[in-house]
Amino acid sequence: MTRRRFVAANWKMNHGVEDAIKFFAIMQRQPLLVEDIDIVVCPPFTALYSAGIAVQDTEIKIGAQNCHWEDSGAFTGEISAPLLKELGCQYVIVGHSERRHAFGETDERIQAKVDKVFEHGMIPVLCVGETLAGRESGKTLDIVSAQLEKVASRIEKNQIESLVVAYEPVWAIGTGKNATPAEAQEVHKFIREWLGKKFGTYVANLVRIIYGGSVKPDNMAGIVGEPDIDGALIGGASLDANGFLEMVKLCASVKR
Ligand code: PGA
Repeated sequence: MTRRRFVAANWKMNHGVEDAIKFFAIMQRQPLLVEDIDIVVCPPFTALYSAGIAVQDTEIKIGAQNCHWEDSGAFTGEISAPLLKELGCQYVIVGHSERRHAFGETDERIQAKVDKVFEHGMIPVLCVGETLAGRESGKTLDIVSAQLEKVASRIEKNQIESLVVAYEPVWAIGTGKNATPAEAQEVHKFIREWLGKKFGTYVANLVRIIYGGSVKPDNMAGIVGEPDIDGALIGGASLDANGFLEMVKLCASVKR
């Protein structure tokens, strides 16, 4: 089974409108010449509108980094799924570890957000992953399965195949320490098997499972060469348009 590759840029709280326009101008100058890959850029909310205009007539899609679990209402400072849909977002990152750990997001909230993203015709990029303490105590697979149980197990069977799962070990995010391809593959395989038990092997084989945590041009090829790693969620290294392009091309060209 060949799953379409998936590479997403998570700019976090970086790159406003001006930097976003510069980024897409560089991307557009260099033809991508790659097929069978989804390329998604997730800027901060304030740059989504201009990013949406910049990617019109290109292969690039835009996504958001978070959303609220309600459609509208008295939620000062929040952004809902329909507001993102109106801006042209096709994906929303949900449950990123920075949201779980710095903003206290619970699995219950994450599950409600996943529902909203699907309800409004977008695709969630659901993040799971263990902390350093979790890994050192040998609990990686227990932690990941608990996160999946509380969120992914509640997804409708007809929606699950479009879900993107991002395995992001917390100790590898923004630290320069990436999981080795073998360490990442072990967890990706486990996630696919978990999905297989819940939803059947056919569906599990359709779900894209991407890796995130210090992905750079020099480690991308090794990571996406693994059989269950379908792409990457890239933070820091995605801020540079040329580097991001290089990683997209690497991901599209590596055989597995
Ligand atoms: P990083 O971030 O590539 O800077 O480690 C990845 C992420 O948090 O999605």
